[in-house]
Amino acid sequence: MARILVTGGAGYIGSHTTHYLLARGHDVQVLDDLSKGYAHNVPKGRLHVVNLHDSSSLDQLLAAHRFDAVVHFAAFIAVGESAREPERYFRNNAGGSLALLEAIERHGVRRLVFSSTAAVYGNPERVPIPESAPLLPVSPYGESKLMTETALKWLDACSGLRYVALRYFNACGAEAAFGIGEEHEPETHLIPLVFRAIRTGVPLTVFGGDYATPDGTCIRDYIHVSDLASAHLAALDSLLAGGASGVFNAGTGRGYSVLEVLRAAGEVTGKKVPFVMGPRREGDPAELVADSSKLRKTLGWAPQYDSLSAMVESAWGFENRRHGPAGT
Ligand code: UFG
Repeated sequence: MARILVTGGAGYIGSHTTHYLLARGHDVQVLDDLSKGYAHNVPKGRLHVVNLHDSSSLDQLLAAHRFDAVVHFAAFIAVGESAREPERYFRNNAGGSLALLEAIERHGVRRLVFSSTAAVYGNPERVPIPESAPLLPVSPYGESKLMTETALKWLDACSGLRYVALRYFNACGAEAAFGIGEEHEPETHLIPLVFRAIRTGVPLTVFGGDYATPDGTCIRDYIHVSDLASAHLAALDSLLAGGASGVFNAGTGRGYSVLEVLRAAGEVTGKKVPFVMGPRREGDPAELVADSSKLRKTLGWAPQYDSLSAMVESAWGFENRRHGPAGT
């Protein structure tokens, strides 16, 4: 059993990871300022509503709990918004991370798992993308995550912090046993928007049908949120056992097009998915698929969800728990 601080633990991936850490028997405290996350995602008695820039509250929390490690999710995640408000993204994501890193240094916490993103690669030259691919973000969001990765790399070299950065591909699905799921406001992610289109009858816009992919729509590597959570647990186990720092892609290694997702949603739900073809969304790479061999080999991780329909079905389960069965 270890004492773990989860920042951003009221959010989608952070709350799933928190539940899994508790199920493993760890003692978990959650820090979240609730600017994006939801208190109802956090098990009772574990939430501390604190912003990472509030150094005195952060100091109090760190002093009271003497954590063995931190799992750091707290960040803004909307790529388009980051292009409109870059300062806010750099301040919140890079600045917030730096404030956390300074605070844990003061309190002697030397292990950290960081939630990074495939957005650090920008428009990759080839897929699947290995971790060694050029790091050329095309959004302030991706850059803000890369800035934190860079800080971590130097703290590892200069001050002995040990970290694992997980570069997520497209998180989806929900764990029914925990009663939580994907809730963003505003929602920009494909699978929840597909369900919204089914529920409301208002067609989803497919962003671009003229990409150089087999059906002309963008390809993404969808990974179930429970598999992402298990990657964090594996990273933490490695660090707590004295393992070295490392950067890992977290994806399944299999890509699906937007139209394949729509087809899977139609099959899983038994309903028609209303959609229209629209123009490309700015900044969307044609294809993002992880080379996840490093995560599999080094940390012994393997995804439990390997089919798109199983992932879509899991997300559909949450949709129905949240809104009631569609069409009823
Ligand atoms: N899409 C549509 N219509 C929509 C919404 C999405 O066609 O209404 C398409 C997008 O163009 C994209 C795919 O569905 O091709 C997936 O889009 P999402 O918005 O669900 O996810 P992204 O791939 O844009 O974003 C994900 C993460 C980000 C991360 C990014 C890395 O959610 O946090 O990958 O590029 F930064």
